[in-house]
Amino acid sequence: MPNITRRSTLVSRKSRRPPGQVPLPVPAASGGALGLLDVAPAYETGLGAMHQGDALDLLRRLPDGSVNLVVTSPPYALHFKKEYGNVTKSEYVEWLQSFAVQIRRVLTDDGSFVLNIGGSYNAGVPTRSLYHFKALIMLCDVVGFHLAQECFWYNPAKLPSPAEWVNVRRIRVKDSVEYVWWLSKTPTPKANNHNVLVEYSPDMVRLLKNGYRAKKRPSGHNITNKFVDRGGAIPSNLLERGNNESNSDYIRLCAEHEIQPHPARFPAALPEFFVKLLTDKGDLVLDPFAGSNTSGAVAEGLGRRWLAFELEQRYVENSRLRFGLVPLKA
Ligand SMILES: C[S@@+](CC[C@H](N)C(=O)[O-])C[C@H]1O[C@@H](n2cnc3c(N)ncnc32)[C@H](O)[C@@H]1O
Repeated sequence: MPNITRRSTLVSRKSRRPPGQVPLPVPAASGGALGLLDVAPAYETGLGAMHQGDALDLLRRLPDGSVNLVVTSPPYALHFKKEYGNVTKSEYVEWLQSFAVQIRRVLTDDGSFVLNIGGSYNAGVPTRSLYHFKALIMLCDVVGFHLAQECFWYNPAKLPSPAEWVNVRRIRVKDSVEYVWWLSKTPTPKANNHNVLVEYSPDMVRLLKNGYRAKKRPSGHNITNKFVDRGGAIPSNLLERGNNESNSDYIRLCAEHEIQPHPARFPAALPEFFVKLLTDKGDLVLDPFAGSNTSGAVAEGLGRRWLAFELEQRYVENSRLRFGLVPLKA
């Protein structure tokens, strides 16, 4: 059973809101993300609720087909463990499967499951584990997800690791990419890349301005002289996101409250990309391994309903900072 915690006090939301963030929507009188579970949240906002407890237990309490998007970064099977503990590589696939079965059940038929999962080295040797690929095969072949697209989070700020192979013996290079498996319940999940357009390249801006002499490319593609400005370029599946700036308000607030920031946050820009691509306003976004609740804060800012689950009481408490709430002493 999840630990039921006290409701929070809402303090000066206005003054704490990061600059440029849209005003928080008016709390829904009923429904919303709230009311879907038969247990009280640790805290809630107008659009969402954070629950402290085991995600497996909380997922089991959610109705079938109630969630539009699950976006999450579970503990990885790391050789060097994080402070919140990690499952070993040999247990990982089985461990993840029990959550994945529930995640698939709670998704709407056009819903998506976006899973950020990092690679890892095998213990004591300079070779990579296959655990995250085994996890992907389990998710599709056993649980029944479809792989809508594999995406990659390129984090240029990642530190070189393991030091033994990269810095000391210099026999491996820096690992700067993590996998983001975009899975879906059916082959045609709701998605709209108009919502995630990026700036045109300087070349494209020039072509839009000056046009192009129609010709056949060496690849055989026919390029016409018609270039229409569609408001931006279609982004690629390589998502370049540093892990510093997007969390700076949270980091600043942690320092103000003398709180240690969560040790394994993802950048807000990562869930933001998928929330925009895969959901509409009012849809429900769930992060079952919420940590500092980056996903919930992103969903709230984008006018989506949200649910967040986190096992560790102190992370639940500290995540209140993202919503202008004061952490209660755990
Ligand atoms: C990689 S962190 C997620 C960080 C998050 N994306 C953020 O930006 O802050 C994984 C989190 O899963 C939590 N966790 C581990 N097992 C869990 C479980 N069974 N139920 C809920 N949360 C769990 C850990 O405490 C940890 O905070």
